[in-house]
Amino acid sequence: MSEKPFSIAIDGPAGAGKSTMAKALAKELGAMYLDTGAMYRAFGLYMLRKNAVNDKAAVARDVEDVDIDVRFVDGAQRLYLSGEDVTSAIREPEVSMAASTVSAVPEVRERMVALQRKIAEGQNVVMDGRDIGTKVLPGATLKIYLTASAEERARRRCAELAEKGMPEPYEQVLQDMIRRDYQDTHRAASPLQPAEDSVHVDSSKLTIEETVTLMKKLAVEAISRAADR
Ligand code: DC
Repeated sequence: MSEKPFSIAIDGPAGAGKSTMAKALAKELGAMYLDTGAMYRAFGLYMLRKNAVNDKAAVARDVEDVDIDVRFVDGAQRLYLSGEDVTSAIREPEVSMAASTVSAVPEVRERMVALQRKIAEGQNVVMDGRDIGTKVLPGATLKIYLTASAEERARRRCAELAEKGMPEPYEQVLQDMIRRDYQDTHRAASPLQPAEDSVHVDSSKLTIEETVTLMKKLAVEAISRAADR
């Protein structure tokens, strides 16, 4: 392994399995896992509670003062908003769209990217999001663009919501996902797009284990290539 810390960037659309795979990969590699979407979700929840998600000026102003804290408790990431643990609250479906909307505001991206880089500094890290390979960690050891068909992603999200006791109809989940994908890929500030040097992994027909195995192979190869340089 190289002495210089390694970083693995995992980007892709909603529901492609980024967090499941990134978490498993981080465990396999003994690295820290940072879920950057959770940070946008925490701020989305904050603006939702203020009933001001669509007020761009308020969003840009409030992101300067909002107290968002990312902590790691027994290795698991928890999100705090002004000291309140919002780790579960940010998973509510309405927070997904709010996070996507506030994340399009450049001031929000600036603050979140700075926080993300600070948290990851000097550590072996696996980070997932929309702009990790293109913006947050442009020099990442490995960049993976993880996709799956919209239908498969909606099926997975339905199962996940049902498991959490928050079931939603499939059609609704699919429509929300398509709308959020559109918003995330069409915004002006750091839109979701594969980094030029990313490896594309389509998980539509792969199990979680198969996907993690493939990603681990890619990661081990990239880390060893970086160590040889
Ligand atoms: O990964 P997620 O579904 O929890 O992310 C919620 C929203 O946050 C997503 O729709 C877009 C935004 N996001 C972003 O713009 N950049 C990131 N690095 C992560 C998430």
